[in-house]
Amino acid sequence: MDRFSDRIAVITGAASGFGLAFAQHAASLGMRLVLADVEAVALERAAAQLAASGASVLAVQTDVSDAEQVAQLADRAFSEFGAVHLLFNNAGVAPVGLVWEHSAADWQWVLGVNVMGVANGLRSFVPRMLGQNDDSHIVNTASVAGFISPTTMGLYSASKHAVVTLSETLHHDLHAVGSSIGVTVLCPAFVPTGIAQSERNRPAALAENPTQTEATLRARASMERAVSSGRLSATDVAAMTFEAVAERRFYLFTHPAILPSVNGRHAAIASGLDPDDPFARKPALAPVAASEVPKVRLETGSWNQLREASQPVRFQVFVHEQGIDPALELDSVDEACLHCVAWSEGVVVGTGRLLPDGHIGRMAVLAAFRRSGVGGQILERLVEEARTRGHPQVELSAQAYVEPFYRRHGFTREGPVYLEAGIDHVRMWRKL
Ligand SMILES: NC(=O)c1ccc[n+]([C@@H]2O[C@H](COP(=O)([O-])OP(=O)(O)OC[C@H]3O[C@@H](n4cnc5c(N)ncnc54)[C@H](O)[C@@H]3O)[C@@H](O)[C@H]2O)c1
Repeated sequence: MDRFSDRIAVITGAASGFGLAFAQHAASLGMRLVLADVEAVALERAAAQLAASGASVLAVQTDVSDAEQVAQLADRAFSEFGAVHLLFNNAGVAPVGLVWEHSAADWQWVLGVNVMGVANGLRSFVPRMLGQNDDSHIVNTASVAGFISPTTMGLYSASKHAVVTLSETLHHDLHAVGSSIGVTVLCPAFVPTGIAQSERNRPAALAENPTQTEATLRARASMERAVSSGRLSATDVAAMTFEAVAERRFYLFTHPAILPSVNGRHAAIASGLDPDDPFARKPALAPVAASEVPKVRLETGSWNQLREASQPVRFQVFVHEQGIDPALELDSVDEACLHCVAWSEGVVVGTGRLLPDGHIGRMAVLAAFRRSGVGGQILERLVEEARTRGHPQVELSAQAYVEPFYRRHGFTREGPVYLEAGIDHVRMWRKL
C-alpha cells in the first residue's frame, strides 16, 4: 500500500506512544483516522489535537480485549467512513516479573489485551477488508520479545510470540485466499512510551496483587529504566512503520542491533543447546547493580561561578542530547538559577538546574550515561540545595514516561498529564 492520502486508518492504543505517533504520521499523509483506546481522557486529548491540526478523526473508546467492543469499533469505522485501508492492532500492556509469580489475573489481562486484542481486530475487520477489493494493509505490533525470552518478561514475551505467529499465519492465510492485503509485524526493542506504566489501564476486576515480591519490583525498575533510555522515539518508529507498509515489508525490526540475540536463540534451537540468554548479548538491557553506579563529581553554582563548565555543558550535553546546531544559544544564562554539573573523568555527563522558586528545570544526562544513576545524583543534589534554601517542596515538569524515575526519588504526581509540543508531561512534587 503506497497511497495514503484520503484513505482510512484504524489505530488501537491510539492515545499514547506508538499509536499516537502512527496517528500523527497518518494525519500528516492526509489519512482519515479512527482512533481507539481504553483510556477515555487521553483518547479525547489525542483526537482533539489531531482534529486541531486539520485531520478528520473519529474517536471510539474501546477495550480491545472485549470482542463486542471491537466489533462495534469496526461497525463505526465502516459506517462512518465506508472503508478501512490500514489497520493497526497496536494496543498492548507489559507487566513484568518471574514467570511463576504472575497471578491468574495478570495472565487474563495481558493475554486479553495483547493476544485477544489482535485476534478481535482480525475477526472484526478482515472479512470486510477482503470484501473491499482495494489496496490495504494490517500492522500488528508485536515486539522483539516475540522472538526472544528475556528473564522476567515471560508473560509479555508469551503474548508477543503469539502475535508474531498469528501475523505469520495471517500472511499465509491471506495468500491462500488470493488476497493482496499486506501484513507487517512490528518488532521494536525498548522505546520511550507509556508502556512501563501499563498498570494505569488494568481493569479493576483484574486488580494487581497488592504485595509485590522483591523480584517483581526489581524487574519493574529495570523495565522502566530500559524503556526510558531507548534512543529511538515513537515518532521514529512510526516513520519506519509507514515505510515498511509502503514497501509491503513483513518483518520490521526497528532495532537491528538486537538481531544477534534472535539468531542466538535460533542457533541454540538448531544445535540442541540450552536457551541463549538475550541479555548476555545485549548487556545494555540488563539490570544495573548498585555497585555499577559511576562516581561523578558534582559542582553547583550560578552560571557565572561555573563559567568554565558552562561551555562544555552546552556543547557536550545539550547538543549531544538534542542533536541541534551548536551555534544556537541553548539555555538562558540565568544567574538566579542554581546549576548542577556532573563530571566523570573530566567530561560533563549531566546537568540540571534549580529555579529560584523551588522548581527543578531541565535535567539532561549524556546518552552514554543514561541508566547509570547520574540523573539521580544530580536530582538529589538539587533537592538538597532546595532544602537548604528553605523551600517547603520542590516541583518539576517531567516527560510522563520518566515519571517512575521521579517516583523512585520520592516525587508524587500532581495534577493531570498535559501535552507540550506533542509530548506527554506530568507535574511532580516532593515535600521537603
Ligand atoms: N515501548 C516499547 O518499548 C515497546 C517495545 C515493543 C513493543 N511495544 C508494543 O507497542 C504497543 C504500543 O505500546 P506503547 O509502547 O506505545 O505504550 P503506551 O502505553 O504508550 O501505549 C499503549 C496504548 O494502549 C492503550 N491500551 C492499553 N490497554 C488497552 C485496551 N485494553 N484496549 C485499548 N487500548 C488499550 C493504552 O491506553 C495506551 O494508549 C504495545 O503493543 C506494546 O506491547 C512497545
